[in-house]
Amino acid sequence: MIEEKINHVTWSDTYSVGIKLLDDQHKGLLDFVNDLFNHVTGNADEENAYLQRVIHHAKRYIDEHFVTEEECMLATNFPGYAEHKTAHDEFKLAVVKSMGGFKAGKPMTLSNFTNFLKNWISSHVITMDKQYCLYFRRIAAIKKDGKLNDTLAKIINKRENISG
Ligand code: FEO
Repeated sequence: MIEEKINHVTWSDTYSVGIKLLDDQHKGLLDFVNDLFNHVTGNADEENAYLQRVIHHAKRYIDEHFVTEEECMLATNFPGYAEHKTAHDEFKLAVVKSMGGFKAGKPMTLSNFTNFLKNWISSHVITMDKQYCLYFRRIAAIKKDGKLNDTLAKIINKRENISG
């Protein structure tokens, strides 16, 4: 019964946005999803206790990732920034709301919550994140050296140092 709801996610090049730091952050998010799946036991108390232990770290990680992307989009005048930022904000709100539901004892299982995270992250990366990926590539393509613009490179470098 539980097995039917557990569907681990595997990184593939389909998810790549062409920037190592952002790919690494996405891999970290998928690792978190798989870790949650690994803690699905069917015992609500156990699952809730585990989630309460790890969710703050996950929220910080998600915030760091979203800020990295948003800084990159702003620095390059990405035209889809506002829509993308709204999607990030709505996701964060949905996570907070779900966590509130857990605390209030609403009947939500860890596998349901994890499937929500998995589906949102997978879909968002493949659809919305790919849009800035293509935009950044176009910026690089019109430069003689084929590199990302300097402002974008500086942000990536700064965020790599923060993450490291
Ligand atoms: Fe990779 Fe827009 O989140």
